Amino acid sequence: MKMRAAVLEEFGKPLVVQEVDLAEPKGGEVLVRLVACGVCHTDLYTASGTDPSGYAPTVLGHEGAGVVEAIGEGVSDLAVGDHVVTLFSAQSRECDHCESSRTNLCLAIREPQGQGYLPDGTARLSRDSEPMRHFMGTSTFAEYTVMPEIALAKVTPEAPLDRACLFACGLTTGIGAATNTAKVDAGSTCVVFGAGMVGLGAVVGCRLQEADRIICVDLSAERLELARHHGATETMIGGDGAVERIVETTGGFGADFTFEATGNVGVMRQAVESARMGWGLCTVAGVAGKGETLDVIPRFLITGRRVCGSSFGGVKGRDEVPQLVERYLAGDIDVDSFVSHKLALDDVNHGFELMEAQDGIRSVIDFA
Ligand SMILES: NC(=O)c1ccc[n+]([C@@H]2O[C@H](COP(=O)([O-])OP(=O)(O)OC[C@H]3O[C@@H](n4cnc5c(N)ncnc54)[C@H](O)[C@@H]3O)[C@@H](O)[C@H]2O)c1
Ligand SMILES: [Zn+2]
Ligand SMILES: [Zn+2]
Repeated sequence: MKMRAAVLEEFGKPLVVQEVDLAEPKGGEVLVRLVACGVCHTDLYTASGTDPSGYAPTVLGHEGAGVVEAIGEGVSDLAVGDHVVTLFSAQSRECDHCESSRTNLCLAIREPQGQGYLPDGTARLSRDSEPMRHFMGTSTFAEYTVMPEIALAKVTPEAPLDRACLFACGLTTGIGAATNTAKVDAGSTCVVFGAGMVGLGAVVGCRLQEADRIICVDLSAERLELARHHGATETMIGGDGAVERIVETTGGFGADFTFEATGNVGVMRQAVESARMGWGLCTVAGVAGKGETLDVIPRFLITGRRVCGSSFGGVKGRDEVPQLVERYLAGDIDVDSFVSHKLALDDVNHGFELMEAQDGIRSVIDFA
C-alpha cells in the first residue's frame, strides 16, 4: 500500500514527508494505522547524525499509538480494531530475559531491529521497489506501520491515543525508572535531575511510590513549576553547587534515590554524588553523547552508593504499559499537561524546532 511518511534522507537535514510503500504484515506481524505519535529526543538524535548507530534513509518515529488494521498469520494476542501503543523495547515473553524479573531487555529481535529490519531480516518499507530500513523497529512518523506482535501493547480503547502515545517512550521511561528500576521505597527522599518528559515521569513515579520528599532539579523555572504540579515537594535550580545543596538539605548525607534525566554526563556525576552514603541508589536514564564517559570517584561507591542504568524504565511493555494507561485513566497521572503542541505530519520538522527551543514538553503528531 501507499502511505505518507516522514523520511530521514540525509543526516542533519530536515525530514522529507513523502509517499512510500508499505508491504502487508507477514507471520507474527501486525499492520497498525497510526493515530498519534510523540516527537522524542531520540528521533532528533538520529536525524542530526550524532547517533553512532544511525542510518538513512529511514522513516523515523517511535512514540506511536494507533489501531490494528490487519494481522498476519499466527498473531494470537491482537485483533483488528484493537488499540495499541508501539514498543521499541519488545517483550517476547519467551526469551531468558523476558522470563527473568531482573530485566526488561528482551533478546528476541534485538539484532534485526538494530539493523533496521523486521524479525525475519527484511523490510516492509520500500520506495521505487528499493527496500528502506525501519527505525527502532517502529517507524511511526507515518500513516501506517508494520510491527511484530511482540512489540505492541494492547491498551484500553477508552484511552485517547494522543495521550496514550506518550507511554511508548518518555513517560514510561521516567515513571518506570522510579517504580521498576529503583523501586523507590515509601517515605524516602528522592532527587530528580531534569524536568523534561523523562524527569517529570520520574517525579510522577516517585510520587506513585509514595516518596516523602521529591526534589526536582532543572535549569528552567517554568519546568520546575510543572514538576511541582506532578508531585515534586521541592525544586532547585541546577548547575554548580547542586550536590552541596542537596547534601545540606538531607542532613549531610544525600538522598535515598537519585535520578538523572538530562543526558549530560556532568549531571550524571552530580546524581551519583548526591546519593546517600550507605545505601543511596543513582539511576541513570539520560543518553550521553557519542564517546562521552561518566566520571565517578570510586570512594563514592565504596561508601555504599550504587549506580544503575534504566532503559524504557525497566518496563516490560506488553504487560505493564496497559497498566500505566489504566492509572492515567484512573487519574493518577496527568498526561494532558505533557502534551504542549499538536502537529500535522507535514509539520514534523517544526516539532524538532520546538524541542530544541524547549518550547513545551511534548509535541504530538495527530494523523486524524
Ligand atoms: N533510557 C531510556 O530508555 C530513554 C528514553 C527516552 C529518553 N531518554 C533520554 O533521557 C534524557 C531526557 O530526555 P527528555 O526528553 O526528558 O529531555 P529534555 O531535554 O526535555 O529534558 C532534559 C532537561 O534537563 C535539564 N537540564 C539540562 N542541564 C541541566 C543541569 N545541569 N541540571 C539540571 N537539569 C538540567 C533541561 O533544562 C531539560 O529540562 C535524554 O538524554 C534522552 O535521550 C532515555
Ligand atoms: Zn523516545
Ligand atoms: Zn523476550
